[in-house]
Amino acid sequence: MSTQRQYPVVPAPRFDVPPEESVERVRAFADTMALRRTVRDFSERPVPRGVIEHAIRAAATAPSGANLQPWRFVVVTDPERKRLLRDAAEREEREFYERRASREWLDALAPLGTDWRKPFLEDASAVIVVFEVHKGPETPRPYYVKESVGIAVGFLLAGLHQAGLATLTHTPSPMRFLNEVCDRPQEERAYVVIPVGYPADDAMVPDIARKQMDEVAVWT
Ligand SMILES: Cc1cc2nc3c(=O)[nH]c(=O)nc-3n(C[C@H](O)[C@H](O)[C@H](O)COP(=O)(O)O)c2cc1C
Repeated sequence: MSTQRQYPVVPAPRFDVPPEESVERVRAFADTMALRRTVRDFSERPVPRGVIEHAIRAAATAPSGANLQPWRFVVVTDPERKRLLRDAAEREEREFYERRASREWLDALAPLGTDWRKPFLEDASAVIVVFEVHKGPETPRPYYVKESVGIAVGFLLAGLHQAGLATLTHTPSPMRFLNEVCDRPQEERAYVVIPVGYPADDAMVPDIARKQMDEVAVWT
């Protein structure tokens, strides 16, 4: 017999949607999400702190392996720290683009027109650095960290988009420098960097297509 203590149980929260409304609601959600694009040119218009707080609140409701919630969201708004972040990221990225990246990877990136320059790390009103939280003095060993943090980041991007904000999902490589820039302990490992703000008036995005329903879904 298990000696593990169990959580007490409570009634499952209800979020009832009348059946006649459910298609319309999810259609509206999908239509809104279809307008999300990765933006790389931001205006300096500030983002209200409350918007980011609620988006993080939504992210932190994500399911996680054994409910260990292995995430930390560091919101960088201080201009000096954003400058440090940009300087350090550009050093790493320059090394990546000019030396470390394979020809294959550079070819995959070429159509997007990205390079080592990262002005968005300073221009965006806020930069959210998402960390995975691993085993440390105060934290237990988590399970399914990448899966859990990935789902939380999905919620975060969806929440920010719902608030009319633009985001960029940025993955500098490697990311260890982010611990120092963000003052985070070693058991936290950066997962993604998300500049958040309003798009610049002249922001452009690559004209890419999304796969059709029959290419992404299989019904059986
Ligand atoms: C895990 C991940 C890492 C990414 N890393 C970068 C990045 O480092 N720099 C960048 O400019 N875009 C990055 N992107 C954005 C993708 O290029 C972008 O999502 C893709 O081209 C589709 O465009 P869309 O987001 O506008 O639909 C990343 C996206 C994901 C999901």
